[in-house]
Amino acid sequence: MENKTFYIETYGCQMNVNDSEVVAAIMKTAGYRLTERMTEADMIFINTCSIRENAEQRVWGRLDVFRLEKRRNPGLLVGVLGCMAERLKKQFLEKGIVDMVVGPDAYRELPLLVAEAEAGQKGINVLLSCEETYADISPVRMDKNGVSAFVSIMRGCNNMCAYCVVPYTRGAERSRHPESILREIRELFAQGYREVTLLGQNVNSYSWASDAVNLNFAQLLEQVAQINPLLRVRFATSHPKDMSDELLFTMAKYPNICRHIHLPVQSGSTRMLELMNRKYTREIYLERIAKIREILPDTAISTDIIAGFCTESLDDHNDTLSLMKEVGFDQAFMFQYSERPNTKAARHLKDDVPPEEKTRCLNEIIALHNKLSLQANKKEIGQQREVLVEGLSKRSDEALFGRTSQNKVVIFPKKDYRIGDYVQVRIERCSSATLFGVPLD
Ligand code: 5AD
Ligand code: SF4
Repeated sequence: MENKTFYIETYGCQMNVNDSEVVAAIMKTAGYRLTERMTEADMIFINTCSIRENAEQRVWGRLDVFRLEKRRNPGLLVGVLGCMAERLKKQFLEKGIVDMVVGPDAYRELPLLVAEAEAGQKGINVLLSCEETYADISPVRMDKNGVSAFVSIMRGCNNMCAYCVVPYTRGAERSRHPESILREIRELFAQGYREVTLLGQNVNSYSWASDAVNLNFAQLLEQVAQINPLLRVRFATSHPKDMSDELLFTMAKYPNICRHIHLPVQSGSTRMLELMNRKYTREIYLERIAKIREILPDTAISTDIIAGFCTESLDDHNDTLSLMKEVGFDQAFMFQYSERPNTKAARHLKDDVPPEEKTRCLNEIIALHNKLSLQANKKEIGQQREVLVEGLSKRSDEALFGRTSQNKVVIFPKKDYRIGDYVQVRIERCSSATLFGVPLD
């Protein structure tokens, strides 16, 4: 008999993308076949995100589409995975069309739950674990450029930022065995990959202490960097409280550790940061930025910003704008605050900034960022940068795109270069999001 097929759709963060690759590996090992076409699938998995309300709305919308698909193909099974599965459990099972609800720590159980669902029983497992890291599972790479891959090195989060649902959906922080990380990356390099991004909700608090091995994040990063100088190493997401000098000095020692740090600030107001339970002040954040600039002068810095958190005043908002100007972020992900049920903020603080005010502040933040990132990109003009080629430019078959160590996208003429090559490029012009250049050799 033909193997049954599964189709998987992913929403949310890069960790979720990597989790879908783990799910694909588990299902393939159990004898199922991955398909890219929903219409030929025997089961559909949707890997979900709860970070903001609109992320959840999108998933409910997709479930309506799957309902129609089920009408066409009555044997079709639908499974909800990930953060929303964890958060909403029963609500999904009550919704007729969902057959399986599987939380982020229960993916090993999927084949069993599929069998249950095939037998007409609803399959559910949303138990969170203190240990699961899927260390022994080699993810099925779905990104397909064959050059850059994501490697999860820790799961969960203990930070308890007041606004954030992640500690509730993904559970407690735990680090993956360093040997399994290094093995996976060595294999990726041998397969031709030239860039890995070490992933974790709080990646720089990685810590391994057992089997007579003691390793913090800086030490792990060093070992990864030593695998091969031709392998670029990135990491995300870092928390400012764990951005140690040791980590910066390790980066400085290895040119193949990329000169880019994603360091979410969330707000420029110390009062807001305290309410958010971020564990640093505006001054401490700025001091870390100064240290990065001192030890790693050529490093791009990106951030996340939330507009309109509980009780935010115009003064607080202006503090965010002034901090943005002071730092000059190269890239920023900017959001309106969205209250998530059961978080610290939902339980203890009032979501009292009117929606139109949140939108106004967010728009102001975005407008300022566009101006600042254009300025930052203009400084690149005339520079020579090493670009790792990732693929053809979306706009033209005659151009390639890749990234600099600073994580900036560069478009340049194709010539004879191939995906996976390192090319020296001189930057000639830019927009606020992209650099354009010419190869030097
Ligand atoms: N509302 C808006 N943005 C949020 N983020 C996390 N939780 C919320 C929320 N409730 C943002 C933060 C985080 C990024 C991944 O998402 O900026 O760094
Ligand atoms: Fe979304 Fe956060 Fe879950 Fe990632 S960990 S899927 S961003 S809620």
